[in-house]
Amino acid sequence: MSITILGIESSCDDTSAAVLRDGKILSNYVANQEAHRLYGGVVPEVASRAHQKNIIPVVDLALKMAGVNKKDIDAIAFTRGPGLMGSLIVGVSFAKAYALSLGIPLIEVNHMQAHVLAHFAEAPKPQFPFLCLTVSGGHTQIVLARDHLDMEILGQTLDDAAGEAFDKTGKLLGLDYPAGPVIDQLAQHGRPVFDFPEPQIPELNFSFSGLKTSILYFLQKKKKENPDFIEENKADICASVQSRIVSILINKISQAAETTGIRDIAIAGGVSANSGLRAALEKTGKEKGWNTFIPKFEYCTDNAAMIAVTGYYKYQKEEFVGQEVAPVARWRV
Ligand code: KG4
Ligand code: ZN
Repeated sequence: MSITILGIESSCDDTSAAVLRDGKILSNYVANQEAHRLYGGVVPEVASRAHQKNIIPVVDLALKMAGVNKKDIDAIAFTRGPGLMGSLIVGVSFAKAYALSLGIPLIEVNHMQAHVLAHFAEAPKPQFPFLCLTVSGGHTQIVLARDHLDMEILGQTLDDAAGEAFDKTGKLLGLDYPAGPVIDQLAQHGRPVFDFPEPQIPELNFSFSGLKTSILYFLQKKKKENPDFIEENKADICASVQSRIVSILINKISQAAETTGIRDIAIAGGVSANSGLRAALEKTGKEKGWNTFIPKFEYCTDNAAMIAVTGYYKYQKEEFVGQEVAPVARWRV
């Protein structure tokens, strides 16, 4: 029997819908919200209003691109959390109303679990058990995936997320939000000549707030000596910051691989689009004999394909929820 899942994602500032049939992605449409660029970060109220405007056309487009009629959908998978409450409410309310009108089941999805399962959108797919370094604007986690729906967080950030470290550095450098992709671009024209300290954090946990402070003090000192320091050294500053963030991430995932003996290593989340991180994982993987899994760009940042994929595994276990389901801002994998 053929199974068609509609996935809906609205946890932060991207409105996305995707259609998956029998484990294969037929469409994955993402509407980005440009407005936040002007504010230097995601403004929750602005995000919520944009989701309200986007959700119906985004779902219509995803169905059209897939060539699927809404009557052919077997279930709706939606992001229940974690995320911004005002953003989640839009996707959750839409999913509930749509499922009710079509008379089909609802599947709640944890956004962070979905980032890990983005690896099952297309081949090559990792073998269980594998480790996934999930790095986004809100989270930095090392996840042990024993099965599609059986995951454990082995370590996580104690303060800022890796994406936040990129975005906050961007703010100090006068770059637009989100700064991660801009720093990535600039870093390709620079050299990591400035040394920022690597924090010593116990076990498999991370911390990025000290790095942010050391970048701030470094820039303040240099600007006193030369007011044009940032403009004259932007590419080298970006290369140095990126290189330190990447080394922090690679050292911890290496430690996790050593502790667990697991050699299938994946990355996921928005920061996994970073070219420095992707190259470093491949290089370290070759040296250590890992099988590495790096998602396509479209499955790194927030997307509904990963929600539909997670929904597909939950559908097979009949893990459905009722109309009383409500969004949750915080929710562990
Ligand atoms: O997973 P995601 O799309 O949304 C969240 O769930 O947070 O991640 C967004 C984060 C932002 O902090 C953004 O700056 C970062 O991912 N990001 C990058 C790159 N592309 C996106 N960071 C570094 N290099 C990139 N190429
Ligand atoms: Zn995300």
